[in-house]
Amino acid sequence: MDFLNKRRFDGSRSAKSADTDAERLVSASVRGSEDAEFELKLRPVRLGEFIGQSKAKEQLAIALEAAKNRGEALDHVLLFGPPGLGKTTLATIIANELNVGFQQTSGPALQIQGDLTAILTNLRERQVLFLDEIHRLQPVLEEKLYTALEDYKLDIIIGQGPAARTHVMEIRPFTFVAATTRPGLLSSPLRSRFVILLRLEFYTDDELRFIVERSSEVLGISIDTDGAAEIAMRSRGTPRIANRLLRRVRDYAQVRAHGSIDLPTAKAALEILEVDAHGFDELDRRLLRTIIEKYDGGPVGLNTLAAVLGEEEDALEEVYEPFLMQIGFLNRTPRGRVATRLAYEHLGLAPPTKAHVYERPTLFP
Ligand SMILES: Nc1ncnc2c1ncn2[C@@H]1O[C@H](COP(=O)(O)OP(=O)(O)OP(=O)(O)O)[C@@H](O)[C@H]1O
Ligand SMILES: [Mg+2]
Repeated sequence: MDFLNKRRFDGSRSAKSADTDAERLVSASVRGSEDAEFELKLRPVRLGEFIGQSKAKEQLAIALEAAKNRGEALDHVLLFGPPGLGKTTLATIIANELNVGFQQTSGPALQIQGDLTAILTNLRERQVLFLDEIHRLQPVLEEKLYTALEDYKLDIIIGQGPAARTHVMEIRPFTFVAATTRPGLLSSPLRSRFVILLRLEFYTDDELRFIVERSSEVLGISIDTDGAAEIAMRSRGTPRIANRLLRRVRDYAQVRAHGSIDLPTAKAALEILEVDAHGFDELDRRLLRTIIEKYDGGPVGLNTLAAVLGEEEDALEEVYEPFLMQIGFLNRTPRGRVATRLAYEHLGLAPPTKAHVYERPTLFP
């Protein structure tokens, strides 16, 4: 099965919002094999090359060193945070740093117990098993995982009916690394199986500039500091988006400019791509406009918003909202989504003098 080419939000694409790069730079899914190949090429291999996330990196560096010194498998790791911030990258880095094998699967890819049993029983000593989108793992499989994670044992039922017997199989000690964009959806027994919890945050503009510069070096693109800073600023705090924008801007530079990326080239290219100063794409703007123009600034329920926009609730909640909340344009309240004063100002609309127009949003938990 091609785990790398998973498409997560296929259902979210309405006929109206065509899947063009200009419109969907924010999308979480890795689109084609070309995109997947490109991400692979730009993926840092060692912890030292992984830019930013200093808190997560420090925690991980200590745990890695301790595990190596003891000669044991690393404790199980849960990586969580919005799409494109480096969860899969860190999972691969963990295996590289430990110098052990890496096997990857995902919640939706695991359909039957036999698949999970086969994967677990074939693991090599201390290797990394990476399970992406763990929030989408079926509950029966989740329960099966518990003993595997705790005691490196697996209960297997052989036979059927009255003749059925339970057989306990030993598994080699391994490190389970799981990733999710929705940690809130994990059951507490599952969450309690993880010892190392790493929350990935949006990147600063400076960190993203480093990432753009590093990627340019890997791809052989000539770019100056201002050009890289401009791309960084419009990347929604997300390395995946920074890398995608870099690729589009490079195309523009080669076709319409002199080949290398400086500030005017980056600005002109990003304008054509309709990526504005905050890195909003077409759907961000449509989302905010809908709340403001159709619902008077909100509150409006997520399901209503999703229906009006022709999008999946999951896509809005996982991909679009975290950044809009982080920069203070959107607020989640018990009664629904609310556009803040900043959102009105960004869209050039006059904020109404209503009590529910929020000055400061509460941050994403
Ligand atoms: N800290 C970093 N330094 C440099 N590049 C990074 C960093 N984090 C991520 N990247 C780049 O961003 C791309 C996307 O990262 P990754 O696939 O690890 O995100 P993710 O969190 O797993 O996303 P998703 O939730 O969609 O699976 C990678 O290919 C890598 O090139
Ligand atoms: Mg990933």
